Amino acid sequence: MATQMKTQVAIMGAGPSGLLLAHLLQRSGIDSIVIDGKSREEIEGTVKAGIVEQPAAEVLVGSGASSRAMNKEYEHHGITFDFDGGSHRFDFTKLVNKSVFLFPQHEVLIDLIAARIAAGNPPLFEHLAEKIIDENTNNPKVVGKTASGEEFEISADVVIGADGSASIARIAVNGSQTSGYFREYPFAWYGILTEAPMSSDELIYSRSEEGFVLISTRTPDVQRMYFQCDPTMDPNSVSDEEIWAKLQLGVKVELKRGPIFRKDVLRFRSFVASGLRNNRIFLAGDAAHTVPPTGAKGMNLAFSDVLWLNQALNAFFNEGTESLMDSYQEDALDRIWKAQNYSYWMTTMLHIAPDATEFDKKRQLGELYSVTGSEYARQYVAEGYTGWEYGAAWK
Ligand code: DHB
Repeated sequence: MATQMKTQVAIMGAGPSGLLLAHLLQRSGIDSIVIDGKSREEIEGTVKAGIVEQPAAEVLVGSGASSRAMNKEYEHHGITFDFDGGSHRFDFTKLVNKSVFLFPQHEVLIDLIAARIAAGNPPLFEHLAEKIIDENTNNPKVVGKTASGEEFEISADVVIGADGSASIARIAVNGSQTSGYFREYPFAWYGILTEAPMSSDELIYSRSEEGFVLISTRTPDVQRMYFQCDPTMDPNSVSDEEIWAKLQLGVKVELKRGPIFRKDVLRFRSFVASGLRNNRIFLAGDAAHTVPPTGAKGMNLAFSDVLWLNQALNAFFNEGTESLMDSYQEDALDRIWKAQNYSYWMTTMLHIAPDATEFDKKRQLGELYSVTGSEYARQYVAEGYTGWEYGAAWK
C-alpha cells in the first residue's frame, strides 16, 4: 500500500523554483509538499551558475528566503568583454544604476532549504516522482517511490512541475517531455573550479578566434572558469596545462593559477515547452524552459514564473478565482522569450561556431564593436544582465 499524503500544492522539484514557491505560498497560508528524487547533500553540493540579478536578490531578501543574497562583498558593478585584443567594460551602475550579486545557486538552495526546515515543512528528499495521474481532474496526484523503494502518492488541488530540464511533469502537460521549441548549439562549456586567488574583480567574457572564455569566481579563494569546447569532449582528456592555456586565450589579464579540483562539460540548449499548463498542473523554471548559460539567466528567469504562480495560487486559494491561473502562461511567456533572446544573443555574439566562415567572424566583431561602442547598446546589455524588473509579478 502506497503512503498517502494530501496537500493544497504538490511541488515536484526542490530546486530554486519549487523551494521559492513553497516559501512564498507559506507566507499566505497555502500548504504545500515539495518532493525531490535527490538527497539534500546532492542538491546542496551541485555546482551551478553564480549570478543573481538585482531584482531576484531583492525577492530573496525581501521575502525572508535568504538574508545572504545581497552581500556587498559579492556585489558586481560591471562586466568586461575582451575581444580583438581590447577590453571593454560595461559599468552597470553608470548605465542602469543596478548591479548583480555573485551568489551561487547552491548557496541559494542552502538558504531556501533552511527556510523550509525552519518553517516546519522540510522538502521530502529521495522521493522520486514517477508520474502524475488524474491530470485532467481537479484532484491530480503525484505518484512515485522513495530511495528505499516505498511507494507514495500525493493528492493535491494543484501540482507544480518544477522538476528541471528532464521534467516528467511535462508529460502530463504536453503529452511528452520534448514537445516544445528547441535550439541546439554546436559547442559546450568546459568548466573548472580552482583553488586560486581572483584574477579579476569582475567577470570577463572573452571572444577570440579560438572561441569563448568566461572568468568567474566563487569566493576570494575559489574561482570558476569556462572555455568553449566540443559537446562530446571527455572532461578527463586534457591536462591542467592545456586547460590553463585554453582559459588564457583572448583574456587580457594574466590568470592566477591554482590546483583544479573540479572539471565538467556543460552541454546546453534553448528550449520552451509548448504549453505551461494543463488544467491544475503548471510548469515552472527549467521544466518550462531552459536557456544556454551565457548571461546566467536560468535561475533568475525561474523566479519570474514562481512569482506569477504565487499570485495565481493566492488568487485561487484565498480569493476563489482562477483568472490568474488562466493568464499564467501568457504572463510568464513574455519574460521567457525575452530571456531566451538575451541568452541566445549573448551566446552567439561571443562563441565561434565550428563552421564559422571568415565573413561570420568579421561580422561578429562588427557586432561586438557596435555594442561596446554605443551607450544605448551597452545599456541594453546592462539592463538585461542586471535583470529586468519583475513588475506586476512581484507586488
Ligand atoms: C557564471 C555562469 C554564467 O553562465 C555566467 O554568465 C556568469 C557566471 C558562473 O558560474 O559563475
